[in-house]
Amino acid sequence: MKRYDKDTQHMITLTLNGVTRTARAEPRMLLVDFLRHTLGATGTHVGCEHGVCGACTVQVDGVAVRSCLQLAVQADGRSVDTVEGLNRTGAAELGDLQQAFKSHHALQCGFCTAGILMSCSDFLGRVNNPSRQQVTDMLSGHLCRCTGYTNIIDAVLDVAAQRTEKSGEQTENA
Ligand code: FES
Ligand code: FES
Repeated sequence: MKRYDKDTQHMITLTLNGVTRTARAEPRMLLVDFLRHTLGATGTHVGCEHGVCGACTVQVDGVAVRSCLQLAVQADGRSVDTVEGLNRTGAAELGDLQQAFKSHHALQCGFCTAGILMSCSDFLGRVNNPSRQQVTDMLSGHLCRCTGYTNIIDAVLDVAAQRTEKSGEQTENA
């Protein structure tokens, strides 16, 4: 295991939303603080700072993680995706998950939303055709004070259905 000197700033290189970024961080710096304060990716929010609320969720190497429970140095050499990267087309349009959240009114203040979107993105990448209960279970790792969750669940199920329909069309046309 690599050892870091606690008083030294260490050079960290990671791929943030497909772009290589390099910056220095002390070994004690949290990944969420590195993303927000050093790299300027402020779409990721900080809530509880101890792994309970899920607001800080990002993906590291494609897996949803709490960025308040990881150190920036642990992300060295890895690929990190945040809410800013959900629509990689570079167009002004929202990605399908974001669009569904908008259509279903699945957010109010939006504080929890970036983290929830990153968990949903990971979840839908692994589970093709989820049941309502599976979506509910996945969301149990997130606290939302505003929505009552029902509209979030509806949005996720809508995206799952859209993606299933689209993949069926592509199979038919192949
Ligand atoms: S800020 Fe990380 S889980 Fe709450
Ligand atoms: S939309 Fe306000 S906390 Fe979830």
